[in-house]
Amino acid sequence: MPNFDPKYNSMSLTTTPVISVEKTSQSKIENVDFSNLVFGKVFTDHMFECEFKNGHWQNASIRPYGPLEIDPSAKVFHYGQAVFEGMKAYKDEDGSVFLFRPDENIKRINRSSKRLAIPEFPEELFFQALHQLIELDKEWIKPGLGNSLYIRPFVIATENCVSASPSDSYKFIIILSPAQAYYTGEVKVVFAEKYSRAADGGVGYAKAAGNYAAQFYPTNLAKEKGFQQVVWTDANEHKYLEEAGTMNVFFRVNNTLLTAPTNDRILDGVTRKSVIALARRNGVDLEVRPVTVDEIVTAAKQGHLKEIFGAGTAAVISPVSGFSYKDITYDLPLQEDSFAAKFKKELTEIQHNLAEDPFGWRYKVM
Ligand code: COI
Repeated sequence: MPNFDPKYNSMSLTTTPVISVEKTSQSKIENVDFSNLVFGKVFTDHMFECEFKNGHWQNASIRPYGPLEIDPSAKVFHYGQAVFEGMKAYKDEDGSVFLFRPDENIKRINRSSKRLAIPEFPEELFFQALHQLIELDKEWIKPGLGNSLYIRPFVIATENCVSASPSDSYKFIIILSPAQAYYTGEVKVVFAEKYSRAADGGVGYAKAAGNYAAQFYPTNLAKEKGFQQVVWTDANEHKYLEEAGTMNVFFRVNNTLLTAPTNDRILDGVTRKSVIALARRNGVDLEVRPVTVDEIVTAAKQGHLKEIFGAGTAAVISPVSGFSYKDITYDLPLQEDSFAAKFKKELTEIQHNLAEDPFGWRYKVM
C-alpha cells in the first residue's frame, strides 16, 4: 500500500489532488526546431515534482523546468536508488491529446519502486499530474505520425546520508521532451557472449536506472565494431536471447514470430505486449517462449530468419538489419511486407487516433 498525504488518500477519482502551479514567464518553444529533434535533448517549459518525507508524498507542484538543488550526500548519487518510466503523448489532427496505456506505466513504476525499496506513488496523483502538466505544455506536442511527446517520470532517493540503506526521502518528478525517432540510422546488434544485463532474482524486470548504466560499457564495445545495441542473453549460459538494451526483441523465423516470455530478468514492455496483441489479432503464428541463440543462428544460416525487430516506447518498433555472434555477422534480407512495418503502422495509427482502438489502449487527456 503506498504512503501518501491524507489529502491524496483516495485512489478513486472523488478527490482532486492539490497540485500547486507556477507557470513560466517565458516559453522556450519558439527556439525549438520541431523538425530536427534529437531524442531526449529538449525539454518543455514545465515539470512536476512531489516529495516523499515523514512517511508521506506531499508538496506536489508544477513549476518551470529547471535544475534541482540536491545535497551531494543524497543517496541517489551513491547507491543508485532510482527508477524511471518512459511513456508518450500523441496529438491527432483535431488537437486532441492521447496517452497510450498509461495505467501500465504507473503500475510498472510502482513495481520497480517496490523492488528498489522506494515507496509507491499514488495512481490518482500521477494521473492528475499528467493531466495538468500536459495541459500546460500541450503546444509542445505536434500532430502527425512520427511526432510525440516523450514523458519521463522518475523517482530519486534524496536523503542526505551515505549509509547504505534505503532513503527516507524521495522526489517523484515528471519531465517532458518532444520526440521523433529514437534510432535514426540502421540498427545492427551483437548477441551478448560475455557480459550480462540481468540475473535471476535481480532487478532486470524493473526500470532501475542502474540497469541502463550497466549496459553502457558493453554497448560501447559493440559500437566500436559498428553495432548499435547488444541483445542480452541469459547470465547463466548465454544461451537464450532475452532483451535488447532499450527494447524487447522479436524474431521472425519463416512466418513464425518468436519472443521471450517476461520473467525477473526481462522488462515487461508495454510496446512488447501491444505487439503480441496485434500479432494475435492478425492471426500471426506467435510463440512466446525461450528463444535460443543456436536456433536463430541456424535459421539465419539456412535463410529462414526473416526479421529481427525491437519494441519499446522510445524506439517504437525498430527493424534490426543484422546481428553478430562469435565474430560472424549475419545480414538480414530487406523484407517486403515485414511484420515490423505492419505492426508499427497498426500501433502508431492507434496511438495517433487514426484507427479504431479495439483494445481500449488510448487514454484521452483532452
Ligand atoms: C523507453 O523506451 O521509454 C526506454 O526506457 C528507453 C530509454 C532508455 C530511452
